[in-house]
Amino acid sequence: MDIQNKLIVITGASSGIGAAAAEALAAKGGRVVLLARTQAKLEAVAARIKAEGGQAFVYAVDLGDETAVAHITAAIQQELGTPDVLINNAGSGQWRAVDEVTPAEARQMMTLPYHAAYGMTYGFLAAMLQRNSGHIINMTSVAAYMAIPGATAYATARWAMRGFSLGLAADVNTTQLCVTLLAPSKVSSPYFTNNPGSEERIPKIDKIYPTLTPEQVAKKIVKIITQEKCGEIVIPLSVRLTIAFKRLFAWPVNTLLLRTGWKR
Ligand SMILES: NC(=O)c1ccc[n+]([C@@H]2O[C@H](COP(=O)([O-])OP(=O)(O)OC[C@H]3O[C@@H](n4cnc5c(N)ncnc54)[C@H](OP(=O)(O)O)[C@@H]3O)[C@@H](O)[C@H]2O)c1
Repeated sequence: MDIQNKLIVITGASSGIGAAAAEALAAKGGRVVLLARTQAKLEAVAARIKAEGGQAFVYAVDLGDETAVAHITAAIQQELGTPDVLINNAGSGQWRAVDEVTPAEARQMMTLPYHAAYGMTYGFLAAMLQRNSGHIINMTSVAAYMAIPGATAYATARWAMRGFSLGLAADVNTTQLCVTLLAPSKVSSPYFTNNPGSEERIPKIDKIYPTLTPEQVAKKIVKIITQEKCGEIVIPLSVRLTIAFKRLFAWPVNTLLLRTGWKR
């Protein structure tokens, strides 16, 4: 898809990967719609985009609120039209073990990213199907491909994103819609400041892999859209190869994750 003049809705656009993606897509001529809770941060991203001659629209919303999600998708469609691209990127959640998360907290930890992505997609899907075009990119983490000690509720929400994205792709398989699941390994975004106590729990084996920057992930998102890459994408390549290896030989990879991971 040629990004020029396309309407691109990005959740979690006030920070990290979402903000970097918004700037990269606006630089390619996309009309980017920025969603997150913090109006001032969204305005700052929009100001940077406009200073470079780009187009950006700000909608401050708590995507954990199902009613607010329904209202915001309706408002965007009415005011700007049906998105050509929806990037379900907003996410939060601390890395904690099951006995550290109450059932109520576990339910809460599913709202972002999973329920927010479901609600955003539901809000736009009928119109995208009617137009029979568009691209939905769902952000998850490599945690959706493995069992990491001390991060169960966080990882479960990422596995849910994977199930959602693959199921959605199957739902629309007879249409022209493209669905992509993007799973980066560690990214040097403010995520670990925003979700304290999480970074320390990343298994030490992760140190052999490169840490991505938000800009590198944003560049990948631009490529996914321009080259219409549908399906599942794990980055970087070294982690993708490890996951492929784990499919054939689960034992060594699982053992390394447990041996180098969080210990109670
Ligand atoms: N950083 C990593 O290592 C890494 C690796 C793989 C995948 N990911 C995934 O990438 C996505 C983006 O994370 P990031 O690394 O860029 O972290 P980040 O800098 O913390 O960004 C998270 C974004 O989500 C928004 N958000 C959080 N709760 C929200 C809510 N209730 N309603 C609306 N927006 C909300 C935040 O904005 P407000 O606070 O303003 O609402 C912010 O814009 C997440 O889904 C994360 O799981 C991150």
